[in-house]
Amino acid sequence: MAGKSASRVLKIHAESPEPEIIRQAAACLLRGGLVAFPTETVYGLGANAFDEDAVRGIFAAKQRPAADPLIVHLASAEDLALVAAAVPPQAAELAAAFWPGPLTLLLPKLAALPAEVTAGLDTVAVRVPAHPVALALLRAAGIPVAAPSANRFAHTSPTLAQHVLDDLEDRVDLILDAGPTPLGVESTVLDVLRQPPVVLRPGGIARAEIEAVIGPVRLARPDERIAASPGRQPRHYAPNAQVILCDGENPEEIARSMAKRASELLSGGHRVGYLAASEVCARMDPDTPPAAIRDLGSLRDLRTIARRLFAGLRELEAQDLDVILSHRMPAEGLGEALNDRLARAAHLPLPSG
Ligand code: TXA
Ligand code: MG
Repeated sequence: MAGKSASRVLKIHAESPEPEIIRQAAACLLRGGLVAFPTETVYGLGANAFDEDAVRGIFAAKQRPAADPLIVHLASAEDLALVAAAVPPQAAELAAAFWPGPLTLLLPKLAALPAEVTAGLDTVAVRVPAHPVALALLRAAGIPVAAPSANRFAHTSPTLAQHVLDDLEDRVDLILDAGPTPLGVESTVLDVLRQPPVVLRPGGIARAEIEAVIGPVRLARPDERIAASPGRQPRHYAPNAQVILCDGENPEEIARSMAKRASELLSGGHRVGYLAASEVCARMDPDTPPAAIRDLGSLRDLRTIARRLFAGLRELEAQDLDVILSHRMPAEGLGEALNDRLARAAHLPLPSG
């Protein structure tokens, strides 16, 4: 897929996508093309899941190792029989509760689905995305669509069409630009084939929400996450500057810890940026001004922080910084997913629990 001129970008209405644009994008998928499209979480890089060459094109475009399996996107849970050999009762309950939405379920793979999609595994990861553009595209194409996040492998996931263009340049046939993705972090990946079920990647649906439907689930240990989900290497979501997390019990302590780190770095001649919650930004030390600041929003509003996190990392890395100082978020709800992404951006050992 490489070697084309710049990828074609079409603006599309996020709430009521124009049928003509959807028709063009669906035709492109059916011809074996790569289409980047918005989901409620992040932009995905889609191909017909039953077209091996197109699926290989995804790996080539992203420079993604072939051992890292893709998520298959469906228009509705009724299409599960196209890709999954069985749907255990717990999976059916979760699908009824959260689809369309940011929950990805591991199911036994149907033999007919190309091995490229699942990197040779006998399970397939599936979800029904909640974005009107994604759903319209899936319905119009009438096929399951394999789609990882539309970023260069191991880079920060894209929440804007511009991020896709920045990372993949001429390697995509079509990019549907519906503006910022509403959620901002990827789906929760859940292995429902184990008991109790195991969260391989915390994401848009919090653990407590899943437990309210099917009872206890656990977060995979870091070693399990890497083994079970090959794409879950700790070095992921990495921007081009070094990310360092500064901790504290409350915003004052975090701000103090960031200022201390910043003054050490500044005296060493480094360019430093801050990526922090509003409460922390409000307590910044005026004597150690960073070269750039991105305010993520209030600690009481993790949805806003999720929406701004990846774009904030990308905006800061564009400022030619040596170091981005940030901090962990409250651990409840979406915080588990946010802290997972922050730890990966900082190349830290992953939290378990
Ligand atoms: O929100 C999302 O999930 C976005 C949007 C585009 O849907 N997609 C996304 O895909 O984040 P990707 O490829 O960036 O992440 C999928 C994760 C990877 O960590 C991969 O290793 C894991 O899901 N995965 C996929 N299939 C799997 C399988 N059969 N077993 C274990 N892990 C799997
Ligand atoms: Mg990804």
